[in-house]
Amino acid sequence: MTDRYAVFGHPIAHSKSPQIHTAFARQTGQDMTYEAILAPLDGFADSIAAFIAAGGCGANVTVPFKEEAFRLASRLSPRAQRAGAVNTLSFDADGILGDNTDGAGLVADLTRNLNCTIVGKRVLLLGAGGAARGVIEPLLDQQPAALVIANRTVSRAEELAELFGHGVRACGFDAADIPVDLVINATAASLAGDLPPLSPRVFTPDTLAYDMMYGRDTPFLDFARTHGARTADGLGMLVEQAAEAFHLWRGVRPDTAPVIAALHTA
Ligand code: ATR
Repeated sequence: MTDRYAVFGHPIAHSKSPQIHTAFARQTGQDMTYEAILAPLDGFADSIAAFIAAGGCGANVTVPFKEEAFRLASRLSPRAQRAGAVNTLSFDADGILGDNTDGAGLVADLTRNLNCTIVGKRVLLLGAGGAARGVIEPLLDQQPAALVIANRTVSRAEELAELFGHGVRACGFDAADIPVDLVINATAASLAGDLPPLSPRVFTPDTLAYDMMYGRDTPFLDFARTHGARTADGLGMLVEQAAEAFHLWRGVRPDTAPVIAALHTA
């Protein structure tokens, strides 16, 4: 029988995950389907239960259900535990395993696709919400020289810095004003077409400015480019986090390059 997978979110019509996983399945010869399911805002757990009852093998979870998926899982991977959120679920006889592949996806995109080494580099992470929290541990695993979290509400950045330790520092946007090697925008500002109030002094021609949002040029990327930095959007992260989930479910690692290229063309 063909194995079923799906992504759950609200909204979900825009999701590229079905296209990505269908491409991975074709490429690796896996007998599976992958669909997008709109879960009601107050009905995420019921939607997952119905999918499991219908034979679902695993699921991805996107906005706004990642924290709820964290609470729903009966077991959590260590990285999901640290992220406080789950984007990948696997269903088996023992229950629901929750994992988080977002940070691994970001690091894979940076290091493999964008040739950006993180070891020994100065990294500035913008934002202190769920998106930021999900990528901190995988970034630290790369052993940057410094990781600074800048956020509009400084106390939220301080909470994350305390949670992760390892010399992670926190500040407001006004205090982030020295050149860095990598700036990652994990704020929700791009969604609203806003620019985090960042000093242009963080950018040099060697800086990579990365926006975790994808699909359109953001004010952050435009600002970074204007001040001489190299830029990348989050499309590669999207495909790499999907590849990590696919590997977890199917035990095979798809080739992400042709899938990223096809999405870029589209
Ligand atoms: P998510 O799970 O997507 O990270 P979140 O937990 O609501 O969502 O966090 C959103 C992040 O984007 C926060 O860091 C938020 O800053 P505050 O903690 O000060 O609210 C940040 N953010 C949202 N809109 C922003 C804007 N216009 N400029 C700068 N930061 C913004």
